Amino acid sequence: MGACLQTVPVSFRAEDRYDQSLGRLFLPGSMIDRGVEGDRLAGIEKGLFSAEVAGNEKLSPACRLIRFARPEGFPDAKPGHFVSVRVNSFSVPLLRRPYSIMDLTETELLLLVKVVGPGSRLLAEAAVGDRMDIAGVLGGTVFPSPAGEDAVFVGGGTGLAPMIFAARTWKREGNTGNSYLIHGAATSEELLGTFCESDFTKVFRSTMDGSEGYDGDAVSYLQSLLNDDTISGSKLYSCGPAGMVKALELKVSTRFDSHYTSLEAVMACGVGACRGCTVPLREEDGRKLRAVCSDGTVFDASQIAWEDWE
Ligand SMILES: Cc1cc2nc3c(=O)[nH]c(=O)nc-3n(C[C@H](O)[C@H](O)[C@H](O)COP(=O)(O)OP(=O)(O)OC[C@H]3O[C@@H](n4cnc5c(N)ncnc54)[C@H](O)[C@@H]3O)c2cc1C
Ligand code: FES
Repeated sequence: MGACLQTVPVSFRAEDRYDQSLGRLFLPGSMIDRGVEGDRLAGIEKGLFSAEVAGNEKLSPACRLIRFARPEGFPDAKPGHFVSVRVNSFSVPLLRRPYSIMDLTETELLLLVKVVGPGSRLLAEAAVGDRMDIAGVLGGTVFPSPAGEDAVFVGGGTGLAPMIFAARTWKREGNTGNSYLIHGAATSEELLGTFCESDFTKVFRSTMDGSEGYDGDAVSYLQSLLNDDTISGSKLYSCGPAGMVKALELKVSTRFDSHYTSLEAVMACGVGACRGCTVPLREEDGRKLRAVCSDGTVFDASQIAWEDWE
């Protein structure tokens, strides 16, 4: 999955280029005042932290739960926020790797890590006591709360982490609505057993190869669960491959009042400076390219110009 750079009109806001300079981010504890509107957050605190690995648990052949002790001064986060991790102290891999926050408590920062290449492998192999350099909290938008209404979460592959953070956060806030998770994976090796069962009212699993759960993709599964009234809800939340989110928006979203999605575009800087992670949005004054890392990662899925992006 990735952001395709398309030949569509590009709109840069002057204040973005100023506010999102890398120099400011890499000052520990610095503040980037975005001053943005709507449900975007103004004044998210960002900084660089040295975080100690406090636990590393194998959840499946492909996935690890990495627990970091929450560094002193690490800012609060909301569902949809992410961090970027420097996975070792060498120049390879050069770039930090972005990871959604799976949970943040008073004492711990939790990440769900699927091994797909060298960076994720280094993170997944971290030993208790290792230290890693973490930039956070990143992201300019968050998932709006269902405010007591029933919610359906669809997490495809590594998109599960922000769904868990949302469910846990809103439960802690006293949200009383039902929450249903559809976790879609390629194969049973990527499913996590009963790991997040207690975070949701009910969890449904699907695999593309039919090795466990529903035989097929998460979107088809959701359609069948809605059709036979097994689940219902007015709010739809998603995170996963662009193809999955697009299918959700085009095929299922009319059954819900809203569909918010956290996009996982391939990222370089993670703070809106390189413009390498853009997504085309339909806005009131025309089509705009927005940076997934700093204008998102959470977007109203109905605003995404899907015909120009996948
Ligand atoms: C905002 C955000 C949140 C994320 N949250 C999580 C998470 O909670 N858990 C998790 O396991 N992963 C998450 N990812 C993906 C994670 O960042 C990548 O898997 C990781 O950077 C891969 O690094 P690597 O060196 O192991 O693999 P690389 O060698 O960099 O890439 C290996 C393969 O993975 C693909 N890939 C790399 N990055 C992405 C991406 N962002 N989206 C799709 N494909 C990619 C590459 O195209 C390549 O095919 C997130 C990504 C973003 C942008
Ligand atoms: S990764 Fe550089 S602008 Fe988003």
